[in-house]
Amino acid sequence: MSAGCTQPARITLSQCGSRTALPNSRSCTVNSFTATLARNDQLAAEVAAHPELFRILTGERPTGALHLGHYFGTIAERVRLHRHGVDTFVILADYQVITDRDGIGQVRDHVHNAVLDYVAAGIDPEQATIFTHSAVPALNQLMLPFLSLVTEAELHRNPTVKAEAAASGRALSGLLLTYPVHQAADILSAGANLVPVGKDNLPHIELARVIARRFNDRYGEVFPEPRALLTTAPEVPGLDGRKMSKSYGNAIGLSMTADETAALIRRAPTDSQRHITFDPQQRPGVSALLTTAALTTGRDEHDIAAEIGDGGASALKRFTTDAVNERFAEHRRIRGELALDADFASRVLREGNRRVNEIAEHTLEQVRYAMGTVY
Ligand code: TRP
Repeated sequence: MSAGCTQPARITLSQCGSRTALPNSRSCTVNSFTATLARNDQLAAEVAAHPELFRILTGERPTGALHLGHYFGTIAERVRLHRHGVDTFVILADYQVITDRDGIGQVRDHVHNAVLDYVAAGIDPEQATIFTHSAVPALNQLMLPFLSLVTEAELHRNPTVKAEAAASGRALSGLLLTYPVHQAADILSAGANLVPVGKDNLPHIELARVIARRFNDRYGEVFPEPRALLTTAPEVPGLDGRKMSKSYGNAIGLSMTADETAALIRRAPTDSQRHITFDPQQRPGVSALLTTAALTTGRDEHDIAAEIGDGGASALKRFTTDAVNERFAEHRRIRGELALDADFASRVLREGNRRVNEIAEHTLEQVRYAMGTVY
């Protein structure tokens, strides 16, 4: 298995910011969202020109079936980078499932289903490394030295941790508080230097950079500072206009059949106005259907609204159902075929876990040498 077993070409500190200006280490620091945006186009161009210099790591918490929100939010971009030749690591962060809940649930099913969706979406498991968080001891061991590099105050300041803690309606667990640190361990243990993320995840990547930098300053150069590649994908609303989430019952699953999709869309809330217009504030239901139709056809919401015009909600729902079912027909067909082989997902994960363990053990060895804990 080729791609997974070697470290990627190291992006040295002097290379990691702008290549033309300020070739010193501090030019790598991206302190604000504005700075990241300004750098993002240049980074995207670098990746396009030299995919072989990059290793990406992204993934999901396996809390349920993957849906269109995951697909358009992150999976499509991951597939694009993977096809372009970027070394691709996908983590199924099973330990992260229990950051904000008591039980781990049907985690094995969710993990296996996610593997089928990744492969059906175009991630080639021969080239990419799909793995599970819990199966990589060396990754998890990095947590201890990494925890020493951050303060409690820094962890409490993280806006995503705060938002997720508030949304969970529960006391903040130690695992949720330290979530950006284990995410840093995921990224850095695998030697990834690029993390495609949405805006919400930028503080995590910033902390991963801080951890890499502090470790390198304290013990010697071991980690590349990973860079965030901002995904500009639009947020996919759930069918009721709220955030798409399985727990709201407003999510179109990638693995749903055409009939299940039709039934779900039929039940979606709309309004009594017959003429179809795109207006997310006043008409969340109608607009969510239009956005779903727009994303799946690659067209514009207003265009589709104008085309449906006085056809009303029923015509809009028919249009959206056909658009989703057509867009994902091939995905669902491949997925169904893969699912016939009950051992397929396990084989992919065994190989992915084997590869990532090899890399993470190598990383941990470098950490031990740097820290002088080799006995
Ligand atoms: N926290 C991410 C999510 O909820 C999943 C994840 C785990 C991740 N480790 C990561 C994403 C490292 C990017 C990099 O979707």
